[in-house]
Amino acid sequence: MSSIKPHGGVLVNRVASGAERDALLAEAAALPVIILNTWAVSDLDLIGVGAFSPLTGFLNEADYRSVVERMRLADGTVWSIPITLAVEEAKASELSAGQRAALVGEDGIVYGTIDIESIYSVDQKHEAVNVFKTDDIAHPGVAKLYGRPNTYVGGPITVLNRPVPEKFNEFYFDPAETRRIFAEKGWRTIVGFQTRNPVHRAHEYIQKCAMEIVDALFLNPLVGETKSDDVPANVRMKSYIALLENYYPADRTFLGVFPAAMRYAGPREAIFHAMVRKNYGCTHFIVGRDHAGVGDYYGTYEAQELLRTFTPEELGITPLYFEHSFFCTKCGNMASSKTCPHGKEDHLTLSGTKVRALLRDGVCPPPEFSRPEVAKILIEGMAEQPVN
Ligand code: ADX
Repeated sequence: MSSIKPHGGVLVNRVASGAERDALLAEAAALPVIILNTWAVSDLDLIGVGAFSPLTGFLNEADYRSVVERMRLADGTVWSIPITLAVEEAKASELSAGQRAALVGEDGIVYGTIDIESIYSVDQKHEAVNVFKTDDIAHPGVAKLYGRPNTYVGGPITVLNRPVPEKFNEFYFDPAETRRIFAEKGWRTIVGFQTRNPVHRAHEYIQKCAMEIVDALFLNPLVGETKSDDVPANVRMKSYIALLENYYPADRTFLGVFPAAMRYAGPREAIFHAMVRKNYGCTHFIVGRDHAGVGDYYGTYEAQELLRTFTPEELGITPLYFEHSFFCTKCGNMASSKTCPHGKEDHLTLSGTKVRALLRDGVCPPPEFSRPEVAKILIEGMAEQPVN
């Protein structure tokens, strides 16, 4: 097993099997039902397999309030993103603490059960301002929050059925599996890389800088719900595979997905992302410019600054911080302001909007920005997507 301890010390496993599962499934048929959307199903599953250790369920009221106020669970453990189950008020009035309920997907599948500890209403504006640092409805995370009911049901869960991936099943690994695989490979230090984008040269540069000092890279793209103008996960997956095949040492890289929804909570999400990668067995985690940010809501290095406010012991995983990276035409290589003396006019930087426009027109961005193999896959992917 990987030597790094999961967050909170124990890798949570709340996936029922055998007789326990059979009994709970039989019981579920007579339980009150809470319907889960795909986002909630993904949270449920990630709690179940321990990716969100030490969480054993959706946050109860005490933990929720503590997480929103001070980025810690009620017992003081660092936790920055409220993982909550929202239910309509009418549904909540049928439920009570102490009761068990069935967690059923919109597809009718019983994904699990919850042992209800608390049912509580929340001030969404307060949650938005604390978690996202804004209550602007134009922020995709805030919009999602405001689109949910403001009554939450908290308590430990048990997973009875796992969501089945539509594609790329071979890249789905539970934390227990990645830990075992990393250990089998003999890797002692592993750097985790979160991304919701194709891997461009700047991403590759910071990954490879990190790879110079650790044993291996765990490329762990987030493939759950993202905003509509992000590149779809299926296209990204093809691009990651092509990139790794062509430019990365196979014996020092591992590709596995993170099937969670993107919150776009910037600094707070960076902490969450780091804790989760610790659970997957990473010892290090990359945090670059505007990690998990969107628009202009967060400062370029705010995620790094927030992480620095916690002690190494509290985090338990070592963040590796990187400055904004680019290709410098004078240096003739990838660089950042830490390594390049030249001015902005010598730096190749392309906005996301500009890159999307190029790709949509079937034009490859320069190889200094994106590997041609990646650009080709993105162009093909764009051609299949509706224009938004
Ligand atoms: S994120 O929302 O998943 O953080 P993205 O996939 O773009 O977005 O970023 C993945 C990681 O790479 C983050 O840690 C981010 O800070 C970092 N990053 C992205 N672009 C750059 C860049 N040009 N220079 C330095 N770090 C970067």
